[in-house]
Amino acid sequence: MNIQRNVSLKKYNTFGIDVTAKEFVSIANEAELVEVLSDKKQPLLVISGGSNMLLTKAINTLVVHINTKGILVNRFDSYALVTAKAGENWHDFVQFCIDENLGGLENLSLIPGCVGSAPIQNIGAYGVELKDCFVSCKAVHRKSIKEKIFTKEDCQFGYRNSVFKNEAKDQYIITEVTFKLSVGSHTLNTKYGAIEKELVEKKRIKPTIKDVSEAVIAIRKSKLPDPKKIGNSGSFFKNPIITVEKYQQLMAIFPEMPHYPISNELVKVPAGWLIDQVGFKGYVYKNAGVHGKQALVLINRTGSATGKEIWELAMIIQKKIKSVYKIELEAEVNVF
Ligand code: EPU
Repeated sequence: MNIQRNVSLKKYNTFGIDVTAKEFVSIANEAELVEVLSDKKQPLLVISGGSNMLLTKAINTLVVHINTKGILVNRFDSYALVTAKAGENWHDFVQFCIDENLGGLENLSLIPGCVGSAPIQNIGAYGVELKDCFVSCKAVHRKSIKEKIFTKEDCQFGYRNSVFKNEAKDQYIITEVTFKLSVGSHTLNTKYGAIEKELVEKKRIKPTIKDVSEAVIAIRKSKLPDPKKIGNSGSFFKNPIITVEKYQQLMAIFPEMPHYPISNELVKVPAGWLIDQVGFKGYVYKNAGVHGKQALVLINRTGSATGKEIWELAMIIQKKIKSVYKIELEAEVNVF
């Protein structure tokens, strides 16, 4: 176990924020993780893909970088159970599944981050959420160092939410995730408008899971900045869920507002639209900014933005949205 001191976290978070970790250790297997946890250097900060975090200050605790690798496929007649280690890159894992003709995750192509953090916020895109293929995950309890299997039910998945953001927050480290994927006749999820359009344009009459993945990649590339080029963390805010009553009041003023019914009482509205409408698309704030093609994405515009600058920008946006729509935007990223 090689604990390093004063390590820059710039390459470990997709916002590219340059803060220092007082201590840093990269874990290549579960035995190393147990060793670190046994050392009781707690509290600690866990980083895998660093794609859903905003670092606003130096980290004065031990940072544990999860770098475990490995994928195991168990094929049955009509499905396969696929288990991936937490440190596997999410997109590479999705591509592996597609190459193996395993269906279910193709709509989640090109989402930054790693397998182990995917269940924490129940990643989702283009009509599919992780929970749709999730079977279970294995995690280590940080204090007792005991292993626990979380079933789908245990995880209490919701929109960009799970038990790991609530009761179990900061208590477990996910070490592997198991998915149930289709092996032969795949059920494609192309109902999300932009995917159909993309498939038609590319003349994919009988699309395969690879075609769907390629369509998703093309859509994402056209709207979302590549974190390797412009630091960002995907959607910065969650899409707010409001009451039907509140929605009707807003519709009277903003009849064009897109909306997605959640239940008889609740409606989800796109934060990107709300932010765009008040003129923030392409907005510049110090070294930070709002992406020019997707107002829900905050960016490290110059490459040298601090986490504090990005957080200040988020506050400016939050305040404006509150004053115009009386809606409280909630950050989707975890702020440290
Ligand atoms: N819109 C605008 N202006 C903008 C952005 C969006 O008018 O600047 C409008 C769009 O025209 C559309 C609606 O808002 O009518 C929704 O936009 P979009 O389809 O781009 O999706 P989103 O709600 O902004 C969500 C997820 C994304 C996911 C996409 C596609 C959240 C917080 N974000 O974005 O997830 O890729 O749907 O499924 O739920 C992420 O979580 O990091 C992420 C990128």
